[in-house]
Amino acid sequence: MRAELIPIIHTIYSEMANLQPENEVLIIADSRTPKSVTEAFFGEALAMGATAQVLLVPTPPPPSLQTGLKWSKTVHAATTTPDLIVDLAIGYADFIMDAVKRGARVISPGDGTGNIHLEDTLMRTIGAVDIRKLRRESELIADLLTKGSSLRITSDEGTDITIDITGLVGNPNDGFLWDPDKKEWRNIKWVLLPPSQPGLVLPTGSSNGVIAADGFILYEPAYNHETPKSPLRIRVEKSWITEISGDPLTSTRLKNWLESFAPDKTPYHGPVHCNIGTNPRAMLTQHQEFERLRGTITFGWGDNSMLGSLKGQTFGLVKSPVHWDCMILRPTLYIDNRKIIDHGVMPSLV
Ligand SMILES: [Fe+2]
Repeated sequence: MRAELIPIIHTIYSEMANLQPENEVLIIADSRTPKSVTEAFFGEALAMGATAQVLLVPTPPPPSLQTGLKWSKTVHAATTTPDLIVDLAIGYADFIMDAVKRGARVISPGDGTGNIHLEDTLMRTIGAVDIRKLRRESELIADLLTKGSSLRITSDEGTDITIDITGLVGNPNDGFLWDPDKKEWRNIKWVLLPPSQPGLVLPTGSSNGVIAADGFILYEPAYNHETPKSPLRIRVEKSWITEISGDPLTSTRLKNWLESFAPDKTPYHGPVHCNIGTNPRAMLTQHQEFERLRGTITFGWGDNSMLGSLKGQTFGLVKSPVHWDCMILRPTLYIDNRKIIDHGVMPSLV
């Protein structure tokens, strides 16, 4: 293990999760999680006076199938009591939702799918950036989204989509459970790291247009994600996919995969979220950090029942056995009349 990870884990516990000596921590790992990273989270929790345990779970199937998973009663039981769950393996799961409803807080330093990249990713995207500044900017963007009524996203690759965001609540998605400036808990009990990807969970009917995905596509049969050789075009009418075209390989594979769920049409639902990457040191790796790459936008599809519940959304949510994602690398983004990203270039807002 690289020693620089230790102060980063301390920052995560102290500034982002407000770990206190009276707290009980459960660290969830699978066989992909580097043992040294698991033990560093375990040891640092002990060093801060908390009680800590580690739970090793079977490696889940690909992330796009997370929402359809059923976890064992032992995992459910183990997660009914901790104050803080450090998820290094799972992501979306029924027992995580139950734990949050019960009052537990969950921090997921690898988006649940923490892998061999975890150590380098956290050192680069937390240790080498000003996460306090990212938090302030993410809160500002979330506020713009909350007050805004429309998103317009275009790209030279062919994206042209309009999203009605009237009445929606923007999420800063910056990884902080705790506000270290105000010294108070924030209104969120489940966060992903690294920071940040401010955005929105979207209701059905909000989106119309075309997304030309030139970044990653996180779906089956890729275990993590693939990059199309040319833009993959997804046409959307009232938040349902009506046409998939463009890149021959990925469009064929994606259509085949979506059709395999017939007669269930929910995998065609979306976008169910729209997130703006803001981290200047995030990279296009197999780690979920790709969603935080500054100046990019990631869209989610299929299930929003788990994400929406974890984010406290009250509008009608769609349950689906899959949740998949795609990203665009060079968007131009307007929130109402304010340009936030210009061809993938995002100036600092703070
Ligand atoms: Fe997603």
